[in-house]
Amino acid sequence: MPIPIIAQGIQDGIGSIPYAWSAIKIAPWLLVIAALKYYFGGARNTSERLMHSKVVMVTGGTSGIGANVVRELAARGAQVILLTKQPPSDLFLVEYIDDLRRTTKNQLIYAEQVDLSSLYSIRTFATKWIDNTPPRRLDAVVLCGGAAVPTSARKNTEDGLDEEWQVNYLANFHLLSILSPALRVQPAHRDVRVIFATCASYIGATFDLDTVQRGKGAPATSAKNTSKPKTATPSTKGIYALSKFSLMTFAHSFQRHLNAYARPDGLPPCTRVLVVDPGLSRTPGTRRWLTGGSLWGLLLYLLTWPLWCLVLKSPQQGAQSILYAVMEESYARGEGGWLIKECREVDCARRDVRDEELGKRLWEFSEKQIEAAEKEGAVRRALEKKEKEAAEKRQVRKETASGKEKSAGSRRSRKGNKN
Ligand SMILES: NC(=O)c1ccc[n+]([C@@H]2O[C@H](COP(=O)([O-])OP(=O)(O)OC[C@H]3O[C@@H](n4cnc5c(N)ncnc54)[C@H](OP(=O)(O)O)[C@@H]3O)[C@@H](O)[C@H]2O)c1
Repeated sequence: MPIPIIAQGIQDGIGSIPYAWSAIKIAPWLLVIAALKYYFGGARNTSERLMHSKVVMVTGGTSGIGANVVRELAARGAQVILLTKQPPSDLFLVEYIDDLRRTTKNQLIYAEQVDLSSLYSIRTFATKWIDNTPPRRLDAVVLCGGAAVPTSARKNTEDGLDEEWQVNYLANFHLLSILSPALRVQPAHRDVRVIFATCASYIGATFDLDTVQRGKGAPATSAKNTSKPKTATPSTKGIYALSKFSLMTFAHSFQRHLNAYARPDGLPPCTRVLVVDPGLSRTPGTRRWLTGGSLWGLLLYLLTWPLWCLVLKSPQQGAQSILYAVMEESYARGEGGWLIKECREVDCARRDVRDEELGKRLWEFSEKQIEAAEKEGAVRRALEKKEKEAAEKRQVRKETASGKEKSAGSRRSRKGNKN
């Protein structure tokens, strides 16, 4: 088909072919757009690692980049444990897992409820996980769960902490601190990896922990109080960047912590930490952030969608560097603590994330923050339980009293009274 057209163009001139000049004018633009799309799409993971029999724990595996990581790992035969905000009985989750199992032909996909905005929920799951003899197998922990909250929707969690700070950083600190023994006892021949998802915003972070002190920001919106979330105080600005910076600093501290462990068998540690920047992607999280969580923002986003489609990666493309970090063979050796971007190791733009002193300060701060929040949470739960029990007792008393009244007025009881 193109050959006769080209021949006609040569013989009779380009003008003889309908729309030829228009096509010639448009073609370079189409090529530029295709080149830009290819460029912004980023690198593809070409690493292969046998994932059969590997146990992978994933946070944020129900949406965006994490969902694509899960799909790919499941398709390669890994056993996937999704840590989700919703309980495993949630209808959406049941359907999601059914679909994953069907499309990946892998039945080994499970869910455990872990709400990253609740320290109690994390502790409940993690203590249950480590309380097992022999220790459970764990080959990778992929931490994709995250929150990028628009200013208008900022709120504190039930633990009195800024949501972004808790979900992006403190939850990961808490989870890994408790899971640490389970990682350290894995057999020495096992190649265990902990993958942290970061974001380039860490480069501009100011390390000021005052902004994330408990009680700062807007109050929590609990299930009982689902009214519109209050606007945050100005001090919450930059918390997303700080959470990612802290996450990276913690990643290095955690690697040092794992490396310092003297195994009873005298063999070197087998767990390595990798930090991954997946690159800007068109995920629900990015959309929420770009639209500012408003309808006007959504309208503007839809109108400018071709631009986002061009410059942002698809969630599948965003997942590539994380998959590379999970699968690349060469990371089975070495000290750990690498930063991966576009499926290759890159230098960190902030040297201070490797600073041991800073890491220690952050670790102590996080431990104290968790301790205080957990103590308060325990008291709150005990009070709530007491109140619930008292209310139940009151209800039972009320029901017995009304039952007595009824039986006092019945024929049989009247007869009984006469006798
Ligand atoms: N997208 C980007 O452009 C980009 C760029 C650089 C780095 N990253 C990083 O990559 C990671 C994934 O980003 P994404 O854009 O794919 O995220 P996303 O689409 O917003 O998905 C976030 C995931 O985290 C889960 N999550 C949120 N709050 C949770 C909670 N309280 N408890 C349990 N799970 C919770 C969500 O679960 P539900 O679905 O149940 O809400 C969802 O599965 C994040 O760490 C992000 O910072 C993303």
